[in-house]
Amino acid sequence: MRKILFALFFISSCASFGQQPGDSLLPLIPQPVSVMRMPGVFQLRQHTPLILGKDVLRSDAEIFAANVEKYYGIKIDITEKKTSGGIRLQQGMEELKSLPENAYRVTMNKNEVLVEGKGDGVFYGLQTLLQLIPAEPVTEYNIPCVNITDYPRFSWRGMHLDVSRHFFGKNDVKKYLDYLSLYKLNVFHWHLTDDQGWRIEIKSRPELTKTAAWRKGTLIGHYTASPVQYDNTRYGGFYTQEDVKEIIAYAQQRHITVVPEIEMPGHSMAVLAAYPELACTKGPFETAQTWGVFNDVLCTKPETFKFLEDVLAEICALFPGNYIHIGGDECPKDRWKECAQCQAVKKTTGAKDEHELQSWFIQKIEKFVNSKGKQIIGWDEILEGGLAPGAAVMSWRGEGGGIEAAKQKHNVVMSPTSNCYFDYYQSQAAGEPLAIGGYLPLEKVYDYDPLPEAISVGDSKYILGLQGNVWTEYIADFRKVEYMAMPRMSALAEVGWTSKRLKNYDLFTQRLAKHMLVLDRMDVNYCKAIFYIESQLSPPANGKPGVMLDLRNRAKGEIIRFSMNEDEVNANSPVFEKPIQLMRTSEIRAASYKGTARRSPEFRQNYEISFSTGKPVKLLTDPDPQYNTGGGFTLVNGVTGRIPWNGSDWLGYKGKNLEAVIDLGITASVRMVRVDALKDEGSWIYFPKSIEVLGSNDRLTYTSIKKIQGDELGNRRNINIIVGGLQMARYVKVVVENAGTIPEGKPGAGNPAWLFVDEIIVE
Ligand code: ACM
Ligand code: ZN
Repeated sequence: MRKILFALFFISSCASFGQQPGDSLLPLIPQPVSVMRMPGVFQLRQHTPLILGKDVLRSDAEIFAANVEKYYGIKIDITEKKTSGGIRLQQGMEELKSLPENAYRVTMNKNEVLVEGKGDGVFYGLQTLLQLIPAEPVTEYNIPCVNITDYPRFSWRGMHLDVSRHFFGKNDVKKYLDYLSLYKLNVFHWHLTDDQGWRIEIKSRPELTKTAAWRKGTLIGHYTASPVQYDNTRYGGFYTQEDVKEIIAYAQQRHITVVPEIEMPGHSMAVLAAYPELACTKGPFETAQTWGVFNDVLCTKPETFKFLEDVLAEICALFPGNYIHIGGDECPKDRWKECAQCQAVKKTTGAKDEHELQSWFIQKIEKFVNSKGKQIIGWDEILEGGLAPGAAVMSWRGEGGGIEAAKQKHNVVMSPTSNCYFDYYQSQAAGEPLAIGGYLPLEKVYDYDPLPEAISVGDSKYILGLQGNVWTEYIADFRKVEYMAMPRMSALAEVGWTSKRLKNYDLFTQRLAKHMLVLDRMDVNYCKAIFYIESQLSPPANGKPGVMLDLRNRAKGEIIRFSMNEDEVNANSPVFEKPIQLMRTSEIRAASYKGTARRSPEFRQNYEISFSTGKPVKLLTDPDPQYNTGGGFTLVNGVTGRIPWNGSDWLGYKGKNLEAVIDLGITASVRMVRVDALKDEGSWIYFPKSIEVLGSNDRLTYTSIKKIQGDELGNRRNINIIVGGLQMARYVKVVVENAGTIPEGKPGAGNPAWLFVDEIIVE
C-alpha cells in the first residue's frame, strides 16, 4: 500500500518535467532529490571547456575529465579563464546555504552546464553529469538538459573490502574506489588484518610483513566440504606504507575517507604466527589456511598492548580520517578462561566475566587511539561487557547492536548480514559462482532502511548511515569482487543517499538496466541477475492440490520460455504467459528470450509435489523476521532449500523451536513425515535436537505420534520420521527443537543457535 502511495507522489510531484518511468527515465544512481527535465540537450564535444570557479578543487575537474576521456574518448579542456559556454564549476555559493551539507545543483541549457556545490557537492555533481552522458553507441554525446538539486540522506555511505582472506593489489583497490566514487559513496573500510594474512607494513614490527602476511596454502572449495583440501601454495602480500599513502590520496581526491581495520583481540592467527608471545599459550602458530573463527587470540598481557600501540601509532599517523576500526568481533574466550595471566588481569581490573575483560581491553585501546586524536569504531560485539565511552558501533549481527548503541547515544553504522553482506549469493541461477552461503538479492539490499522504527526521532542522529561488506573467503580475484559487489553496491548507494520517499525498486531496476551500459564502458564484471528469472509460488485457490508457479523477469520486452521434465529450454519452447498449477512432481526449466536470442542463464528447479504440498500451514512460533519470506507456506511449497544455503526458501529461528500445524483437509493416514533441516556451523546454524510429530482431528487435543532425537536424527539434511502403525489425523503438528546454545569452540559460541527448516512433507 505504502509503495503505491509513494509512486503516485513521486510521479505527480515531478509534473511534466519529472522523471517518468519508461524511456525518458534518466539512468542516474543514486536517484537525486529533485530532477527537472528541461527542453533541449547539451552536446559534449571534443575540447568542451571545463571552467574552474574560485575555490573549486582542480582534482574534481581532473578526475571528471580523465573519466570522460577514458570511457567516452572525449577530451575536456580544464581552464580557469571565464569563457562562454561549456561546463562551469562553482564552490560554496550563497544560494546553496539553505541546503544540507554536501549538496549540489546542476543547471543546464544547450550552451552551458553549471555545477555548483558545497562541501563535496561539486564532485558529486560531476558524478551525476558523468552518468548523464549517453552510454549507448552514439555519434553525438547529447546530454539531456536537466535541473537537479541533490544532497545525501546519510553521512556514512560505506563499502568494505577484505584484503586478508585474499589480497588485492593497489590497482584493484583504486578500481574499487572508482566504483565507490561513481555512486557518491564516501567511506572505504579497508579490512587489513585477519587470521589468514596481515596486509600492511608496520615499520616497528617487521615480522608482520615477513611472516604474518603469508600463509602456506588455502582451502579449496567450501569450508563445509569434507574431506577438506588445501592447495599447498604459498599465498600472501601486503601494502607498503608508500602504497597506503597512495591509496589514501587517491581516495581523498574522490572525497572518500579510508577507515583502516586492525582486528583485535580475535581474528589474530596471522599476528600470532609472527609474534607467538602475544598468545595465551605457547604456540607455535601458523597463519590460517582455512576460514572461520579460531580459539587462539591475543592475550590480555602487557606485551599485547605494547604491540597494538606500536601498530596503532603508525596507523594513526598514516590515516587522516577520524575513525580507526578495531574489529572486536568473534573473539572466543576459551583461552582467556584458562590463562593465568588473563585471569590475573580479570581480577585486578574487576571484570566479572570474559566479556567485561574484552570490554576493558577495548577501552584501553580506545584511550590510546583517542590520545592520537582519533575515535574507535568496532563490530557490535564491543557492546558486550560494556561499550567503550566514545566508541562507534558497526552493527552486523542484525540491527540489535546498532539500536542498543544508538539508545546509549553512540554513533552507529548499520551493516546487517541480512541486507549488507555482499559475499552472499545474489541469484538462484544454476552455475552461480561459489559463495559463502545466504541469499541477498538486489531487491533486499534496495529495500533496506538503516533507520529502524525502534530508534526514536531524537536518537536517529546517531545512525550515521550504512555499509556494504565484501568478505573474500570465496573471492580470489578482483573480477569476482566486481561480480559480488555490483550492482548491489549501486542499490546500497541509493539507500544511503536518496530520500526514503523517492525509493522505488521498479524504477531503480529500469534505471539500472540503462546504467549497465556505463558499467560496460568501465569494463565492470557486474552480475546481471535483474534479467534472470525469478519464481514465485503460491497455494492454489480453493484447496486444490499442488502449487501455483509464476515466473517473471525484470527485463523490459523480454519473454520467458519454459519447459517441463527433462526437456532443454530453447527458442521453440512455449512462452510462459500466466501462472501454472503444478499437481505432480516436475522439473521446470526456463530462460528469458528477446525474439529467439537467449538473454539469461537457465532457471532450473525441481518441484516435489506430495500430499501435503500447498496445504494450509499455521506457524505456532514465529520465525526471525530476517528469514521468513513466505511464512508457513514455505514449508509446503514443493521447493527444497538449496545448499550451499543460497535461497530464501528456509525459515530461520534464532534460539527458538519451530512449531507448525499442517491441515491436510481430510482425516488421512500418516505414514511418514520428512523434515528438511540445515547445518552450517560457520553461519551458526545447527541441526535440531529433536523432532516430534503429533496428530489431531479437532485441532484442540494433540496426541504424540512419534518423537526422535539424538542419533535417530541422523546426519543428513532430510530427516525421515517413519511413524509406524496406522495413525489417522487431519491436523499434523511438527515440533522441531532448536539445538540451544552454541557450544564452546564453535563459531558464535555462547550465542543462541539458529534452526533452519525448509520443506515438511507428510505422506
Ligand atoms: C563479521 O562479519 N565477522 C564482522
Ligand atoms: Zn591470556
